[in-house]
Amino acid sequence: MTETLTFEPLVLESRIDEEPLSQIQEEILRLKEEQNAVILAHNYQIDAIQRIADFVGDSLGLSYQAARTEADTILFCGVHFMAETAKIVNPGKTVLLPDLEAGCSLSDSCPVDQLAAYKKAHPEIYVVAYINCSAGVKALSDVICTSGNAMKIVEKVPENREILFVPDQNLGQWVAEKSGRRMHLWPGSCYAHVLFTVRALEKIRLNYPHAPIVAHPECTETVRDMADEVCSTELMVSFCRETPSREIIVVTESGMLHRLRREIPGKTFIAGPTDGCACSDCRFMKLNTIEKVRDTLINRSPEVVLPEDLRRAAYKPIKRMLDWSRS
Ligand code: 13P
Ligand code: SF4
Repeated sequence: MTETLTFEPLVLESRIDEEPLSQIQEEILRLKEEQNAVILAHNYQIDAIQRIADFVGDSLGLSYQAARTEADTILFCGVHFMAETAKIVNPGKTVLLPDLEAGCSLSDSCPVDQLAAYKKAHPEIYVVAYINCSAGVKALSDVICTSGNAMKIVEKVPENREILFVPDQNLGQWVAEKSGRRMHLWPGSCYAHVLFTVRALEKIRLNYPHAPIVAHPECTETVRDMADEVCSTELMVSFCRETPSREIIVVTESGMLHRLRREIPGKTFIAGPTDGCACSDCRFMKLNTIEKVRDTLINRSPEVVLPEDLRRAAYKPIKRMLDWSRS
């Protein structure tokens, strides 16, 4: 007997964005102008925030935007490690985050003292850190990568160096497989991405038999193996635009569907389900609300600050990533 879904699938048809902005959104745009601020938003933010952002993108795109902006203030709508990265590359600017509690379970899975102990026991190790980590972990790393450039970065690590990849074992395993480079993997993972299962995807595919599956590399290996394409959130936009299919199953945090819906006309996006739910939301990303964004500009707080010695140490591997990623 065929198993059926126990919930309504989350399906978004693309739409031309003609809805007028709300009063709060208008107020945010006015405050932003007055303060010469730029609003950077990750693809997982709620639709109301994505609509008023100057730039919406993945961690790589956001890092470049943060590095090149001429604004005095960066209001970062994402999670703490992202805002911290913006501060690391912009010490002279004010970096605001709507909720300081917007952390990341993946980042938390690699505490600084544990990485320091590992490095002490393996002094020759070359540390490649996924950008989803704290400034302290970045400062102990040799180079940073994102899901958008991980392959390129790992391929540039000198061949005679043994690599430790932190903190995401799933992304690390995917890069190791694709590049053929052996790496030690830190045992961390993203709680929101490991909720996707083969069982749940097989069930949704019964409803959409012709829809390709695009999945984020933070998903587990069995889910990645089922996907037609595995890539960062930004590359998902290109994949969905270019595929001839009109329906696509998108296996990542549900905020991604807002971006796809606004930018790709005439297609239908189906959220990747978990065993118990129609989609997976990151509780940290979803702490940012449109009211908090407005209040953050009014109060010029919460602000992300860093001791200068830590910032300098964390800047080196980020700079290396930005340079390697361009070439
Ligand atoms: P990217 O948007 O860089 O693919 O990262 C996904 C993610 O989980 C960010 O927290
Ligand atoms: Fe962290 Fe996962 Fe949330 Fe991204 S989606 S911020 S990796 S917990």
